[in-house]
Order: sequence, then C-alpha cells, then structure tokens
Amino acid sequence: GTTLGASAAESGRYFGTAVANYKLSDATYSGILDREFNMITPENEMKWDATEPSQGSFNYSSADAIVAHANAHNQRMRGHALAWYSQQPPWAQGMEGTALRNAMVNHITNVATHYKGKIYAWDVVNEAFADGGGGGRRDSNLQRTGNDWIEVAFKTARAADPGAKLCYNDYNTDGVNAKSTGVYNMVKDFKARGVPIDCVGFQSHINSGSPLPSDYQANLQRFADLGVDVQITELDIQGSGTAQANSYATVVKSCLAVARCTGITVWGIRDSDSWRSGDTPLLFDNNGNKKAAYTSALNALNSG
Ligand code: G3I
Repeated sequence: GTTLGASAAESGRYFGTAVANYKLSDATYSGILDREFNMITPENEMKWDATEPSQGSFNYSSADAIVAHANAHNQRMRGHALAWYSQQPPWAQGMEGTALRNAMVNHITNVATHYKGKIYAWDVVNEAFADGGGGGRRDSNLQRTGNDWIEVAFKTARAADPGAKLCYNDYNTDGVNAKSTGVYNMVKDFKARGVPIDCVGFQSHINSGSPLPSDYQANLQRFADLGVDVQITELDIQGSGTAQANSYATVVKSCLAVARCTGITVWGIRDSDSWRSGDTPLLFDNNGNKKAAYTSALNALNSG
C-alpha cells in the first residue's frame, strides 16, 4: 500500500490517529487524516467532562462531528473513554460512594447508547492501575467506590452496545512489568469469570524516560494468549531521525507479529498536534511533511 491505512488493511488491520474536532477545518490536517488513516479516536471529545458537563445533561456536538467526518470518509471509530479518573466534570470530581457509582453507570449507559453501532471499540476503563512496582489499582474516586467498579463498567457498556469491542486501556504497560502484570491478572480473572472484555489497549507513549521495552512484542502476545485482542492505542515516540524511525518500525513489526494485534493508533497527526509537541513524537512534521518515522512505519507495514 501507499498509505498507512491501506497498508495496514492488507493484513486486516487498521491505522488510526487521535483527532481534535476543532482541527477538522484545517485543510492540511484533514487532508492527511483522510489520505492516511482509517480509524479515529477523539482526543478529548468523548471524555466525561466533554459529554456530561452537568449531571444528567449530555452534550455530544463535538464528538458527533467527528463521527460524521469518519462516516463520510470510510473511517471507523475508537471510543475514548467511558470511565477514567481524569477529565471528569467538576460535578463528578467531588462525588463518592453510591452516588458516584450510580453516576458512572448512568454516564456509561447514556454515552454507549448514543453511539450504539457506531464504535468499533470502546476504551471502557482508562488508566486504572498504579505506576511503580506494586501492580495494584490506582487510587481514585472511582476506585474508592469499590474494587468491582471496573467490571461494573464493562458489564454496563456491554448492555448498552453489545456490538462494540470493550477494551481496558493504559500506559506504561508496554513491556512486562509490575503494572502490566496487574492488568494481565485482571484480564485473566475477567475471562475466567465471564466479565465481558474483548481487548486491551497499550497506549505506548514512548520517551527517553520509558523507552520501547525489548519485550514489547512478548507482552502483546501474553495478553493475546488470554483470548483478547490487543491494540496500540496512543502511540507517540519522543525523538527524531533514524532512532525514532527504527522505534516506529519495531512497534509496527511487533503488532504484525501478533495475530490478535488488530491495529495501531498514533496520538495525533503532525508534531505540532501532539499533547507533547516539544518531543516531536509523531509521523508528520509541523508543516505536514512525512518524516523518516512515517516512511519507516509504512515500510514495516508493507514488509509484513
Ligand atoms: O478545552 C479547553 C479550553 O476551553 C481551554 O481554553 C484550554 C486552556 O487550557 O484548555 C482546553 O482543554 C484542554 C484539552 O486538552 C483540549 O485541548 C485541557 O486543558 C488539556 O488538559 C487537555 O489535554 C488532553 C489530556 O489528555 C488531558 O488529560 C490532551 O489534549 C490529550 O491528548 C490527552 O490525552 C491522553 C489520553 O486521553 C489518555 N492517555 C494519555 C493521553 C496524553 O495525556
């Protein structure tokens, strides 16, 4: 193939990007988006603070605009994210206990129902595990409602949109480590008990402080072996030139080597679109030109 999306599709995979709705009117941005990518994750527009700014009052205008764009350009959607400790609306941030649990369930039901049939995969729960060596849950208002909050979230999402793949998504879980093993044990338990989970997302925000782990592929494979799909969901790699290009190729080849790795999403289009633009972590430069990392990723897709 001659584009990322077409090349990924040759092995039944997708190549996606995070999209910010307010950038769709930028012709350079949308030109690259529609040429190269066949999966879209809204960067912020489907989060709790965006979709339920006051309790029980839902606003889907920005997210709907992205879905409409995707429909018009043969792109599928990853939904992000139904339940997360961060980017909660102020009214939810101060809640606890049964009231918060009920608010979470109502939120998931409403959002997943609004987008029923339109989402390939949902990040049902995002970033629920703690960093460091403990392998346990992250403390949050949601966690304090009871350890079963994650499985309740998944069951609620399944009831609302039975056709969507339901994913757990996290960062610093890209290699075999205490955090990823904590997630692994949760997924194993969910599969054993019949809690609905279909996929695990590996954000893969790679920087010099947490470089690409040598066991990246092996980690994807051990999750796939539990009977879930795996996806690279927010890829960006700090750096430039050959080193960055090689890291992108390694990520692509690792996904292609794992049968249940169904696709790769980068977290933005141009370096200037990145949440950490100073790291120049993406595939296109600030002017929209293809970087060495782009060519390397494309070649890796086509050599699979
Ligand atoms: O919308 C407001 C705007 O009204 C206001 O004027 C402006 C002033 O700061 O802020 C705008 O909101 C910002 C929002 O992005 C939209 O641009 C928030 O401050 C800012 O915090 C928010 O950052 C997002 C971040 O998640 C929040 O946690 C990034 O764009 C987004 O790339 C980032 O994405 C996360 C994934 O969801 C989860 N994994 C990690 C990843 C990177 O942090």
